[in-house]
Amino acid sequence: MKIIKKNYGWIIVTILSSLPLLVVFKMINIDFSNGVSMSFAENAVGEGRTTIEMLYHVTGEFAIRWMTAVLTCTPFFIIFGVSNLFVRQAMGIATAVWSILHFIFFIAAEGFLETFTQTNYVAGFIAVLILIPLLLTSNRKAMKKLKARWKKLQSFAYVAVLLSLIHVAILDKTWIIYAVIIGLGFIIRIPVVKNKFVIFRKNKKIANS
Ligand code: HEM
Repeated sequence: MKIIKKNYGWIIVTILSSLPLLVVFKMINIDFSNGVSMSFAENAVGEGRTTIEMLYHVTGEFAIRWMTAVLTCTPFFIIFGVSNLFVRQAMGIATAVWSILHFIFFIAAEGFLETFTQTNYVAGFIAVLILIPLLLTSNRKAMKKLKARWKKLQSFAYVAVLLSLIHVAILDKTWIIYAVIIGLGFIIRIPVVKNKFVIFRKNKKIANS
């Protein structure tokens, strides 16, 4: 019980980010009889979309949503004074896993080389490449080993976010809402704005004590 109490944020993120996998697994068939091969289930979805369109939709949307969620962690800390590194890391892992799945389905449907045929795919591809080392170093061991370099490495996440937004914007899919949330987060990080929030929070705490 103590473990659950200590890690409940991390556990909630893990459950929330894993649940949609059930929907994804319904749409694919994995065959282990001759190595590993994957095919897309036919008539697995309604809504006038094919299975692969639905897979792009589900994986792409969860990738960008978790990415946006990670970027709200720092503004959330500035406004409310609450932060949890492990929750943030779990969100980062969810972002990378959904992005990689998105890419795996793309390769399965179109082939790897198709990635280099459109600017928006290349932007997404570079974002995925950036997310892989971030995923591999999203743990305590890597943090201890890399020390100050860990933060530097994590700052590449901003490049991945920009490229992902470009990818989605060029595809003409829903991107403005994510850009607005992320943009507001950056405004809150500006030192003058940040200080106002911190002073307000501290004064409120003093008044309540
Ligand atoms: C190699 C990397 C990537 C490739 C090849 C790729 C490819 C695609 C394709 C083919 C679509 C469907 C386009 C359509 O329906 O017209 C799509 C949609 C999308 N992608 Fe990617 N993508 C990549 C990386 C990413 C990344 C890193 C993110 C975000 C973190 C992302 C987020 C999305 C979103 C949000 C959609 C729209 C889903 C929808 O609402 O239908 N993609 N992508």
